[in-house]
Amino acid sequence: MDFSLKRPELIVYSHSEMNKKLNVKRRKVPWWQNEIIYQIYPRSFCDANGDGVGDLKGITSQADYLRALGVGTVWLSPVYPSPMADFGYDIADFVGIEPLFGTMADFEELRAALHDRGLKLMMDFVPNHSSDEHEWFVKSKRKEEPYTDYYIWAEPKGFNETGEPIPPNNWLSVFRGSAWTWVEERQQFYYHQFLAKQPDLNYRNERVREEMKNVLRFWLEKGVDGFRVDAITHLFEAEDLSLDEPVASPSGTDDPLDYGYLNHTLTLNQPETFSVVKEWRDVLDLYPDKAMIVEVFGEEIEEVMKYYGNDSVPLADFPFNFLLIEHLRNRSDLTGFALKDTIDMWLDNMPEGKWPNWVLGNHDYGRVGSRFGADAVDALNMLVLLLPGTPVTYNGEEIGMVNTFISWEDTQDPQGCRYGPEHYQEFSRDPERTPMQWDHSPFAGFTQGNSTWLPVNENYKEVNVQAQLQAEESHLKIYKELAALRKEESFTRGHVAYPVVTFEIFSVMRYLEGYESYLLVINTSEGEVEVDLHHHSNVELPPSAVVILRSVTDTSNSTVPGSVVKLSELILVPGEGLLLNLIEEE
Ligand code: NOJ
Repeated sequence: MDFSLKRPELIVYSHSEMNKKLNVKRRKVPWWQNEIIYQIYPRSFCDANGDGVGDLKGITSQADYLRALGVGTVWLSPVYPSPMADFGYDIADFVGIEPLFGTMADFEELRAALHDRGLKLMMDFVPNHSSDEHEWFVKSKRKEEPYTDYYIWAEPKGFNETGEPIPPNNWLSVFRGSAWTWVEERQQFYYHQFLAKQPDLNYRNERVREEMKNVLRFWLEKGVDGFRVDAITHLFEAEDLSLDEPVASPSGTDDPLDYGYLNHTLTLNQPETFSVVKEWRDVLDLYPDKAMIVEVFGEEIEEVMKYYGNDSVPLADFPFNFLLIEHLRNRSDLTGFALKDTIDMWLDNMPEGKWPNWVLGNHDYGRVGSRFGADAVDALNMLVLLLPGTPVTYNGEEIGMVNTFISWEDTQDPQGCRYGPEHYQEFSRDPERTPMQWDHSPFAGFTQGNSTWLPVNENYKEVNVQAQLQAEESHLKIYKELAALRKEESFTRGHVAYPVVTFEIFSVMRYLEGYESYLLVINTSEGEVEVDLHHHSNVELPPSAVVILRSVTDTSNSTVPGSVVKLSELILVPGEGLLLNLIEEE
């Protein structure tokens, strides 16, 4: 059989239009399309000064690690001066560096260390709110011009029997409870979609818009390569502050103080948002090659896609694709069909000529190994690193870190704290924020000090970078090999197809005329699976293939990388990803 000749017309695309849409023939692509984005949560990455909190010098000391890992872009969660009520997402000075993390000189050293190694640096831009300790808010409280209207201020709706002011409407904070806080000094409420210590900026004020564009300019002048824009959907709220939001139906909660209790028709995704994003795009476009990625969580897909903009009004380079988090909450959601549907949902809805991305986790959602099972870590890394699009990796996922149990007494995350000892575990983000596990020394090599801001996971003696570098097969080694492999043409501009999709199996084929063809086969189930790929395939597959990579949990002699396996009798251990090179028949 002349497989190579037959292959092109035999491929049944799951997305007939998709390869056209991705414009796979295009050769020169912007850096943010080629490179893996690696998110660093600075408090937890590496502590150089021994105070138990990670810092910029610590990150710089790991620049060689990042380079060797094969990621191309580092996104730093906020490093700006902050009272740390929301661990840096409450910013007291948008153009400074938090002393806990170091100095501006340390920042410049980090930027240079990354750039010297060919890595890009993206900053977290948090436009929706500042800290209540920001000078603007302090002056706004005093009605000091021009700051009086920098934030959203409102009169009380009235006063209750005990003389307490009643908030202007029923709007809720994402972190639970009323989104309004009373200020005696001004005799008014201010609005905060997150903590009371995170007052919302008023984007109907031209000066605020200009101030925030200056923040972008400041960092662009510092040589950063782009921004991850925080909480973009929250930027505007309805102008009429007397209106209540409707109760969600179904609400999924009977707690009227829980954010999910209301349908956020007046406080999310307001149409004015896009004009501000466009203003930022224009600022960025005055500098060569700058990227903007926006955080849009929990929205209808059509809403999410709007943030790409279009040819006449380009907006973000991409909104984060959180579908792998939102649709697949745990292992029982992880099936071949669900993976296919989730991937299709993004690609089918993405506007023509735009670029996809794949996010498996971040500092707000549980670790991949805890949501889906440690045995699925390699398969999911294989998936997001080999699909067309930009993968986003949260630090520690490359070694398969899992959630750490944090007692109520040790809980730091305000979202956890606000739900109390009974419910904090459902909401706390601490478990995925614990220190990076570098080696088996005390505190996992994260610090030379004698404490850490969150406890280190007990498994650090087995799960750490050093151990995985030394092991013959490890999550880290697989990740590095994937990072290198995805630079091949078959992945950078090759076609994509899903030859076999069943309840248990998901597969992705990447191929390009004149280059190698690869097939990633994933067993999504919790049991071992023996599968005849030929029987299920919508593509004519060759009889055998060479194993390139396999999950660490597969210890069979027959799948040692380099072995030839028969596609009609493939055995996959639970959660396994097996990456194969298809052998073309002579
Ligand atoms: C989204 C960030 O990822 C999260 O950590 C933060 O608490 C909120 N935005 C508020 O800034």
